[in-house]
Amino acid sequence: MEEKITFKKLDKEYYKTLKEWWHSERVKQFWDNSEEMEQDVDNYVLKGQKSYYDYYIGLYDGVPYALVMTSEQTADDYYEYYKEYLSKTGKTFAIDFMIGNEDFVGKHLSSLTLRTFVEQYSDEEADRFIIDPEYDNEIAFKCYKGAGFEDVDSYVVKDGFFKGKKLHLMIRGREKQQAIDEKPFIPTER
Ligand SMILES: CC(C)(COP(=O)(O)OP(=O)(O)OC[C@H]1O[C@@H](n2cnc3c(N)ncnc32)[C@H](O)[C@@H]1OP(=O)(O)O)[C@@H](O)C(=O)NCCC(=O)NCCS
Repeated sequence: MEEKITFKKLDKEYYKTLKEWWHSERVKQFWDNSEEMEQDVDNYVLKGQKSYYDYYIGLYDGVPYALVMTSEQTADDYYEYYKEYLSKTGKTFAIDFMIGNEDFVGKHLSSLTLRTFVEQYSDEEADRFIIDPEYDNEIAFKCYKGAGFEDVDSYVVKDGFFKGKKLHLMIRGREKQQAIDEKPFIPTER
C-alpha cells in the first residue's frame, strides 16, 4: 500500500481541489481557514511566494486525497509553545495534516500517510516533527499515535484562530539520514 502513496508540492493543478477540501464542513471544524491562511496558500500557489508553510498534496495511485503542511521551527523563529521541544541535533518541522478527499476518509489510511510522509521527507537534517491536535479531535489524536507520534505535553492557545482551545503537543523523531535512501523523495525545493 505504501508504494501507492506519493507526495507532490502543491501547485496550480491541485489548488482548486485543495480549496474545496479546506472549505468542507468536516475539515472546517478543526482547520484554520482564516483570511491569513487563505492568503498564505494563495501566495504560495499563485505567486510562488512562501512565507512560513510548505504545502504537499498526498496522492494515492495518482488521486489527490491528503494535504500535509510543514513549517520549520528554528531557534530564531518558532511557535511559542514548541520552544522546549525543538531538536538539539537537527531540524524541527511542525506539521498540519488532513485527509481532504471524502472517498479516503475513515479508511484507516491516515496514520500510514503521515508516517510515509515523515519517513520520506527529503530534508536529511530533519530529525523531529511536531503536531498538535485539539483535545476534541479524537480521530486526529489516534491517527498521530498510529503514525508514531508521542503525546508529550498540552497547552491552551492564547490567541489567534484557535484561541482558548486545548491542544495535545505530540512529537516524533527520525534518524537524520533515513530520508536519503528512501524513494520516492519528497522535494523540498519548488
Ligand atoms: C484526522 C484525519 C486526518 C484522520 O483521517 P480519517 O480518514 O478520518 O481516519 P482513519 O480512518 O485513518 O482513522 C484514524 C483513527 O481514528 C479512528 N477513528 C476513525 N473514525 C472515528 C470516529 N468516528 N470516532 C472515533 N475514532 C475514529 C480509527 O479507528 C483510527 O484509529 P485506529 O487506527 O486506532 O483504529 C481526518 O479525519 C481529517 O482530515 N480530519 C479533518 C481535518 C483535521 O482534523 N485535521 C487534523 C488537525 S490537527
